Amino acid sequence: MSPLHATQLAPRGPVFSPVAAGLWRLHDWNLSPAELAHWIEHAIQLGITTFDHADLYGGFRCEALFGQWLKANPGQREHIQLVSKCGIKPADPARGWQVKHYDSSRGHILASVDASLQNLGTDYLDLLLIHRPDPLLDPDEVADTFASLKVSGKVRHFGVSNFSPSQFALLAARTPLLTNQLEASLLHTAPLFDGSFDQCLQAGVRPMVWSPLAGGRLLQAEAHPAVHAVLVQIAGELAVTPATVALAWLLRHPARPIPISGSRRLSSLDDAAAACQLQLDRQHWFALLEAAHGHPVA
Ligand SMILES: NC(=O)c1ccc[n+]([C@@H]2O[C@H](COP(=O)([O-])OP(=O)(O)OC[C@H]3O[C@@H](n4cnc5c(N)ncnc54)[C@H](OP(=O)(O)O)[C@@H]3O)[C@@H](O)[C@H]2O)c1
Repeated sequence: MSPLHATQLAPRGPVFSPVAAGLWRLHDWNLSPAELAHWIEHAIQLGITTFDHADLYGGFRCEALFGQWLKANPGQREHIQLVSKCGIKPADPARGWQVKHYDSSRGHILASVDASLQNLGTDYLDLLLIHRPDPLLDPDEVADTFASLKVSGKVRHFGVSNFSPSQFALLAARTPLLTNQLEASLLHTAPLFDGSFDQCLQAGVRPMVWSPLAGGRLLQAEAHPAVHAVLVQIAGELAVTPATVALAWLLRHPARPIPISGSRRLSSLDDAAAACQLQLDRQHWFALLEAAHGHPVA
């Protein structure tokens, strides 16, 4: 298979691969440095060059694991794109955090970016996201903080994650936001119908999509037998895997979402790459929607 074509996240935005690789579970994968290098390099070979991180993944340890590879392979930095997120503080008395909370203050964003850069072994992030909507978020303070991170060269572009359309619109009125990273899959179709994907289309930015396989549940017959059966049937017809069909279902949306694959398996990276070459027809797309919703469209 020829490598995937990279595309822009937004006008004047970074060039990302059409699917990304997610590192949320990296610490649990328990890979040796050689196994991790093999996984990352397999992704890059396929053209999956965008890697999704967050400061707190793996108890704040995942970025440093990835960073060990990058520090050993600094020449790869210009060929990959690094996304990170900040703003969630889990309860951790050792850090002085007695209760889980969100923090989108200038001080926390700046400190989190510095830690991510050090852990990842890079001097810039391609994209920084506010991880969750913080009810205490001050849009002017965040806009000002993003502006200083851009001037310093530490972060090239900005976005948010898990924001409602009104939360996105509020912050986007103060500072350019290039994505809203949202949960979406055949088991979580809300963003297609609650205005989130519409807003991305209207703003000319592309959503990134987390848990595109519903954390693996889409591939377990017992989790949702009806969707699973249609996935298997279409996969058989098209001679691809059910995971490929599930990802192609998302990729078919005109908002041009970027699904983030979260599996440790090399074959899952292959499935994700194959999805980018597959254009589902409308009947297959609606058969899957019907199975997901449990009824035909009106
Ligand atoms: N912004 C946010 O709030 C947020 C929240 C959650 C996640 N994320 C990002 O989104 C990424 C993806 O999320 P996710 O891990 O839930 O995504 P996912 O791709 O929906 O789920 C991956 C999980 O499914 C399992 N799985 C079982 N069979 C599989 C198959 N055939 N193909 C692929 N996976 C299979 C994987 O296990 P194996 O490893 O054993 O294959 C893995 O545990 C994360 O790494 C993170 O970067 C962002």
